[in-house]
Amino acid sequence: MTVFKTKNMKNILIKAKESKKYIQSKTSITPDLAIVFGSGLSSEDLFDEIDISIRYSDIPNFPVSTVANHKGELVIGKRKSKGIYLFSGRFHYYEGYSAKEITFPIRVLQLLGIKQLILTNAAGGINPDINAGDIILIKDHINMIPDHPLRGKNIDEFGPRFPDMSNAYDSEFRDQIKKIAKRQSYNIKEGVYLALQGPSLETPAEYTMIYRVGADLIGMSTVFETIAAVHGGIKVGGFSMVSNECYPPERIKKTTHQDVVNTVKKSEPVLINLLGEWIDEYL
Ligand code: HPA
Repeated sequence: MTVFKTKNMKNILIKAKESKKYIQSKTSITPDLAIVFGSGLSSEDLFDEIDISIRYSDIPNFPVSTVANHKGELVIGKRKSKGIYLFSGRFHYYEGYSAKEITFPIRVLQLLGIKQLILTNAAGGINPDINAGDIILIKDHINMIPDHPLRGKNIDEFGPRFPDMSNAYDSEFRDQIKKIAKRQSYNIKEGVYLALQGPSLETPAEYTMIYRVGADLIGMSTVFETIAAVHGGIKVGGFSMVSNECYPPERIKKTTHQDVVNTVKKSEPVLINLLGEWIDEYL
């Protein structure tokens, strides 16, 4: 059993090396930054020039997005002199993927040498001060999805057995974003993101539980990618695009996936402005 597990774990490293090699054969741009776009986000306005879009299905060993409005491609380009890898579409636990499969792209990025990752998602607003349409800077998370990307034998080449998570959403990054937001007169709030497995949205009783646990935001993604990145020594910044209000129960409205996508789409230009200025000033 142990032997099997060891072999299995090693395979992730070998597979990630194959994926890395394929990506490197398609572009000469090396990444200074990787960004993962969640539901509803699709703008390529961050780029000055795009070199190539690679479908996930063409990258060896990559999982494939099964969610509508998740494009499932890696867009590689430049903003000024900086190489940017934009993952348009991500993988979720509710699609049937394990935490290890979900974080496979992060391992590929790690091998490609990235030092900074920005994760975005669509989320429900739990804190009563948070409104649909808000963009919230994630300051911390609570993982309540019943899996973990580091479960099983540790791959020492990727990182330590017990990674520290005290600054998972890098405080320096958050300070920089807060400065830029102030300059742009955007009142950006910070919040704690709690992840549940979905895919059903939560019941009013569950939203109330999440509020009582102390979270500001609820979603179905992001936490595994953050854990894997921190494990790999990559700095993480996170943003939640709030699509629906969840607490107190009087604020809950019937919500479809299309409602989520439409609301997120409306705040996308604000996010792109924040990220663009951050790249130009701090990356
Ligand atoms: N719950 C979980 N995930 C979500 C929600 C929600 O209410 N809204 C957008 N993503």
